[in-house]
Amino acid sequence: MDSRLAIYPGSFDPVTNGHLDLIERASQIFGRLVVTVARNSEKAPMFNLKERVEMLREVTQLLPNVEVDTFEGLLVDYARKLGSHVILRGIRAVSDYEYELQMALMNRKLEPQLETVFMLPAVEYSFLSSHLVRELAALGGSLSGLVPPAVERRLRIKVAD
Ligand code: PNS
Repeated sequence: MDSRLAIYPGSFDPVTNGHLDLIERASQIFGRLVVTVARNSEKAPMFNLKERVEMLREVTQLLPNVEVDTFEGLLVDYARKLGSHVILRGIRAVSDYEYELQMALMNRKLEPQLETVFMLPAVEYSFLSSHLVRELAALGGSLSGLVPPAVERRLRIKVAD
């Protein structure tokens, strides 16, 4: 087990400024942070896996202790393979809590050594989600301050397609 390592799993469809805020905060706490994109998410994504990974790599390139990876199957198996005993998740508002609680406790049942650590993004991102960003992009709303410029460009191209 690597005590300095944390993994931050998610769909990241696409990465938002809220995710990035959390990644920056976590990169100051953990020695090594692996942001990992779920390959077998139940949702039909707007961006394919390769695009989501590319965007994450672009926006985290200045953070030397952050890596981007993908995983398939159970998160606990991936964490075991990497030697991590910390899963990082963000909680924006009370509404996130129930889902996160279920997931954290299920993961704990599957792997008692694995700890889920929750962090809060900056308050200005507490209303922000990838889902809303996709909807705004589809309907032509402003994405200013919600996603990094590189992600905004990709969203505009995707919607125009
Ligand atoms: O960004 P999301 O969609 O909220 O991320 C959810 C994710 C990918 C972290 C979660 O669905 C997950 O861990 N999936 C992998 C499958 C798994 O381990 N399921 C059991 C978790 S209780």
